Amino acid sequence: MRINPSILAADFVNMQAELARIASADFVHVDVMDNHFVPNLTFGPQMVGRIQETSPVPLDVHLMIDAPDRWAPGYAELGAASVTFHLEAADDPVALARRLRAIGARAGVAVKPGTGVERLLDVLDEFDQILVMTVEPGFGGQSFMPETMPKLRTLAAEARRRGSAVWLQVDGGISESTIAQAAEAGADTFVAGSAVFGAGDPEQAIAGLRATAAH
Ligand code: DX5
Ligand code: ZN
Repeated sequence: MRINPSILAADFVNMQAELARIASADFVHVDVMDNHFVPNLTFGPQMVGRIQETSPVPLDVHLMIDAPDRWAPGYAELGAASVTFHLEAADDPVALARRLRAIGARAGVAVKPGTGVERLLDVLDEFDQILVMTVEPGFGGQSFMPETMPKLRTLAAEARRRGSAVWLQVDGGISESTIAQAAEAGADTFVAGSAVFGAGDPEQAIAGLRATAAH
């Protein structure tokens, strides 16, 4: 079970200090937005490269961008531990996942709340992680959507049936009051932005989420 704080909720001008506050996390979740795939803009490869050099924990890059087939491999080449692109945006998700793995990154695919997971079931083993968005991507601080949980159950059942090692990730509205239902539905990797960086003590928030998810 993994807790990945999202630096979308961090102070961007003090990124080095913010990263130091989450040294007990498993990964740092890095949200890249291009103002096309989602109506918000964050940062690109230059900033992610500096985060890679500075972070005490490995990077879990979440690309909310158009044309990931073109851009995602560059993030793997920067040294990110995992690179997740959106199923809705990719021309050839399996080919892209294979390229990411060949570079040495974990390959992830994400689905928005309205996107089904059926087409992923047959190709589950092509991915190291699947991200079920639990809010509409684009902004932190939104409310968890419990109606996305059946997709997690479907993925978890198929992963079990295949004996697959794929990680099932949730992102959006994850807090002490929602993490247990995501864990119960089969998630094993939890992204949390405001619940970690909005807390007075991020390390304590990470520990609290870990404990609640494990119950
Ligand atoms: C939303 C991002 C999330 C965001 C989550 O589009 O992908 O990673 O940071 O923020 P919270 O945990 O505040 O919902
Ligand atoms: Zn994210």
